[in-house]
Amino acid sequence: MNARHLGVDSTPTTDREAALTEEVLSSFDATPDPRLREIMHSLVEHLHAFARDIRLTEREWEVAIGFLTRAGHLTDQRRQEFILLSDVLGLSMLTVAMNEPREPGATESTVFGPFFVDTAPRVPLGGDIARGAAGIPCYVSGQVRSVAGAPIPDARVEVWEADEDGFYDVQYPDGRSAGRGWLRSGSDGEYRFRSVLPAPYPIPHDGPVGDLLAATARGPMRPAHLHFMVTAPGFRTLITHIFVAGDPHLGSDAVFGVKPNLVVDVAHHAAADPTPDGDRCERGWTSIVFDLVLAADEIS
Ligand code: BEZ
Ligand code: FE
Repeated sequence: MNARHLGVDSTPTTDREAALTEEVLSSFDATPDPRLREIMHSLVEHLHAFARDIRLTEREWEVAIGFLTRAGHLTDQRRQEFILLSDVLGLSMLTVAMNEPREPGATESTVFGPFFVDTAPRVPLGGDIARGAAGIPCYVSGQVRSVAGAPIPDARVEVWEADEDGFYDVQYPDGRSAGRGWLRSGSDGEYRFRSVLPAPYPIPHDGPVGDLLAATARGPMRPAHLHFMVTAPGFRTLITHIFVAGDPHLGSDAVFGVKPNLVVDVAHHAAADPTPDGDRCERGWTSIVFDLVLAADEIS
């Protein structure tokens, strides 16, 4: 294929259109950074081919600019509408997929999401990361290990989740911190903590991305999940979730983050059974076992 002309046009490209694309491409020819030059050339080729493919009207161009303007106005420290747009277009997960470690057996990655906070408190091994978040207690445990099966002690295991009403702490206006924390794996790579059973929830859909979902008859729901970020020297940082088996939204995640290997069974325990830390829970409690398998740093 001629690198300068993608062949996706459904109607003939006029000479003027082709000449314009050529002129814009040439304007980036002197870009000193070769990677930036490659990116800008490819962006212009695909963007122009896309506009020609759909025969973009001036009215549609205005609507698109209005959409991006609204996304910009809504974006601040707490709300990132552009990442949300990337998420619902599958671009975030495509980027994850293209950068996934090739080491077979490593736990798969998924989308980071907008609700991570880097000031979450440390909890001891076996501690409570729910810290007041509403929900049925869920005891999560497993081992952090390498693909070869070697335990990884002292890994930093960061966890965050929504409460049973589907809200992260940062979505409440009262400044609370709950449903998040980090801990270190033990000498045999073991980790465990108390949390709450994750619930499905909608991504923020009161902005332009929500309007796009509504206009395209798509839903905003994400299946119930718990976020992990695991770091250890010599290993690739793992950013992932575990998803609750049986969740009705597993097949229609608004951000395409579900991978079959990340779907876990939840064990349900009666109120009469004491929890692993000897507690009694009126509503019963749940448990999940999931190993976190890290890929070596060099094989990225
Ligand atoms: C989340 O799981 O927290 C999330 C991911 C992508 C978009 C919105 C929320
Ligand atoms: Fe989430």
